[in-house]
Amino acid sequence: MEDKKIVYSGIQPSGSLTIGNYIGALKNFIGLQDEYNCLYCIVDMHAITVAQEPKDLRKNTLDVLALYLAAGLDPKKSIIYIQSHVPAHAELGWVLNTMTGLGQLQRMTQFKDKAKKYTDVQAGLLNYPVLMAADILLYQSSFVPVGEDQKQHIEITRDLAQRFNSRYSETFTIPEILTPKVGARIMSLKDPSSKMSKSDPNKDGYILLLDSEDDTRKKIKRAVTDSSGEFRYSDEQAGLKNLINIHASFSGMSPEEIVKKYENLGYGEFKEDLGEVVVEGLRPLRERFKEIREDKAYLESVYKEGAEKASYLANKTLRKVYKKVGFIPR
Ligand code: TYM
Repeated sequence: MEDKKIVYSGIQPSGSLTIGNYIGALKNFIGLQDEYNCLYCIVDMHAITVAQEPKDLRKNTLDVLALYLAAGLDPKKSIIYIQSHVPAHAELGWVLNTMTGLGQLQRMTQFKDKAKKYTDVQAGLLNYPVLMAADILLYQSSFVPVGEDQKQHIEITRDLAQRFNSRYSETFTIPEILTPKVGARIMSLKDPSSKMSKSDPNKDGYILLLDSEDDTRKKIKRAVTDSSGEFRYSDEQAGLKNLINIHASFSGMSPEEIVKKYENLGYGEFKEDLGEVVVEGLRPLRERFKEIREDKAYLESVYKEGAEKASYLANKTLRKVYKKVGFIPR
């Protein structure tokens, strides 16, 4: 690998991806590939922190891989791999677990939210951010492109890196979060006070990357706005603001330009156009996905090669860590 800074990110294969995942993360992965050495992971070990049907997990893992490729990730430029193929993640995760305060994990918003939803909360859900820290730190990553909801997890990653470095000696690069200017937090189309999420029981709340074009248009038409009728980009009109953010992410226009264009046209026309902007924006990805997803041999060659390259880098860091904590080298 050339001497460029490292970018690292991952997405869970726990169901289909939404346009929230796309706008907040995946879309931004693409442009980083030329300037940085990028690693993009499919974090199947994170996905099992809530119960998964094994056959669905297998399918979803390959779906996410095919979506990565369809969106424009290039295995010639970036390392694309599946987390469970690189055992060093679990190994570094264990070491970091021994240095993480229980209180800090219990304060994580995502843990608190998920713990509310499940009656039987497992230790893996609590320790989830530690595994995420291991993902990032194994590769000496400088930047982590993610949505706003991952902010606390990046903070804990930085804390752990600093703690390890000061307890032993300089070992880990301290990573920084990279969030998009617009769209770092895409909200539910039905309830703009909650994040767009594939686990939303109301299917109209989210648009999946693999939804049909018709469903995409319909869901946008049914999205909540407000009764003021005014076309403004403001927190008081959270539903409209969210739709403007989605538009801006796909069209490249700024929220101000969008307001100017639609302030005299109204919500109906805006939603009509937004439907087209999203459908057009996703069309190439949706078309490529079908082709790539059917080519099992290609998918396999990508994840095998990715795992090999990732393992090499991960093991370099893991060996240092093991030595510093006092394990006897093999
Ligand atoms: P996950 O799988 O929940 O989400 C994948 C990415 O999508 C972003 N995202 C959103 N962005 C904007 N609006 C939304 N409504 C929205 N919903 C999701 C997330 O912020 C994320 O960037 N813990 C991570 C996966 C992970 C990871 C890592 C990420 C594991 N190890 C190492 C970076 C580096 C997660 O659960 O993402």
